[in-house]
Amino acid sequence: MKQPVLFISSEAYPLVKTGGLADVAGSLPLALKQAGIDIRLLLPAYQSVLEQLDDYQVVASTRHYDHDIDILQTTLPGHDLKTLLVHCPALFGRPGNPYLDTNGQPWQDNALRFALFCQVAVDIALNRVGLDWQPGLVHCNDWQTALVPALLDTFLQRPATLFTIHNLAYQGLFDDRVFFELGLPGGLWGMHGLEFHGLFSFIKGGLVFADRLNTVSPTYAREIQQAEFGYGLDGLLRHRASRLSGILNGINTDEWNPATDRYLAKKYDIDSLKDKSINKKTLQKKLELPVDRQIPMLGMISRLVEQKGLPILLEAMQKLLQFPLQLVVLGSGEKAFEDSLQEWARRYPKNLKVIIGYDECLSHQIEASADLYLMPSLFEPCGLNQLYSLRYGTLPIASKVGGLADSVVDANQENFEQHIANGYQLPENKPDALLHSIQRALDDFSDKPRWKQLQINAMTPDRSWQASAAKYIELYRLAIADNS
Ligand code: ADP
Ligand code: GLC
Repeated sequence: MKQPVLFISSEAYPLVKTGGLADVAGSLPLALKQAGIDIRLLLPAYQSVLEQLDDYQVVASTRHYDHDIDILQTTLPGHDLKTLLVHCPALFGRPGNPYLDTNGQPWQDNALRFALFCQVAVDIALNRVGLDWQPGLVHCNDWQTALVPALLDTFLQRPATLFTIHNLAYQGLFDDRVFFELGLPGGLWGMHGLEFHGLFSFIKGGLVFADRLNTVSPTYAREIQQAEFGYGLDGLLRHRASRLSGILNGINTDEWNPATDRYLAKKYDIDSLKDKSINKKTLQKKLELPVDRQIPMLGMISRLVEQKGLPILLEAMQKLLQFPLQLVVLGSGEKAFEDSLQEWARRYPKNLKVIIGYDECLSHQIEASADLYLMPSLFEPCGLNQLYSLRYGTLPIASKVGGLADSVVDANQENFEQHIANGYQLPENKPDALLHSIQRALDDFSDKPRWKQLQINAMTPDRSWQASAAKYIELYRLAIADNS
């Protein structure tokens, strides 16, 4: 494909990350570039992003909503991927989280911040700022970028648009007056535009106006067309079903590779699996858990929110902690979940370690040390930790939704005999089902040859972006054809 691509995201690893979107935005463009696509990444120039950069140039300037804005150019650290940054200190020059203030509440001007971000993306898309480069396709990700397809739709000559849904639960909903305060074209209001039951919906800009839509797993693409997972947008998604598909995320196999991972006490691969337990012993020591490589260790690294199955885990906790196992949870999120996890950890210090916070290094160490990984999500568009776990020979125990259903193959006898089993699927999203699956996993763990076979099944498949990047290129072609 010859047409250049502008890849727009509100976060990208390693510059800024709150979740899986950053992992995708920091690795899919690299794979696309490798496949020959002329691609540039566009991000807000958050304060923390600028602090990490040694070098950037101002390549253009523009003005929106009474703010002077510079467009900066740099490269993604460690790579030669051109990265453009929207520099508007009044809106993005703040410490901490890209979306939340220091009290954990959404910044009160988020609509303005991301509308401005979208307006600058449109300037670049239409080549209005004098860059020597113009995309033939704009790839938008999640609600923070979703006004771009809507704004571009008002132009006759425009690049094609693809909107990727990473999580339909986050929609960017604001009061209707915000739509008018932002001076958006009046024609975009209404139920066939950006209005959602009287509110102003950013995400509808992508869902209604993008030439093509996709989500991050085939199963989630089907689920969001049903009322249970659709948040009232399922009708619209069914209406656009012929333009909607699912592509399973890949992983950055350089960052997430047990054979080269710089954070590990002992690197290992499929031929030196016994070395994995050295990581477990090191982590047990570090976290002050009983040091014993025979005790099965369960890991969980997560935003502590309902989506990730915290209510199910907490309801199962009393019985779970009676099993002969250690559970290590790293995460942050809703205070009530943080507090109850910490309370359980105080009561069971030998079985449960809870680390509240965000820690990239520890997340790698948990992936490498644990024998099993818990992901009882209520819904999961793709999920990356089960993919990292598989690569690290850490078998996931996961609910059967979204990308989990598309990547975890249950260790039942039939799958085991076919050498495809790699984890445990919860029969339903209930505490008893979680406990039952953990029991099955512990039984397998005590059968060493069987366990090793499961680990090999998990570690063998190629989980890099290569195959999925090729699917994105095909989707770009379709979007461009739809737009011409
Ligand atoms: P989501 O995007 O819904 O949060 P994903 O599974 O797609 O879920 O991606 C989560 C990403 O964020 C993974 O890379 C995971 O390791 C990382 N992560 C989540 N919480 C933490 C944490 N507390 N510390 C370090 N990394 C975390
Ligand atoms: C979202 C989803 C997660 C997905 C990630 C990257 O945050 O919750 O399932 O893996 O986006 O696509």
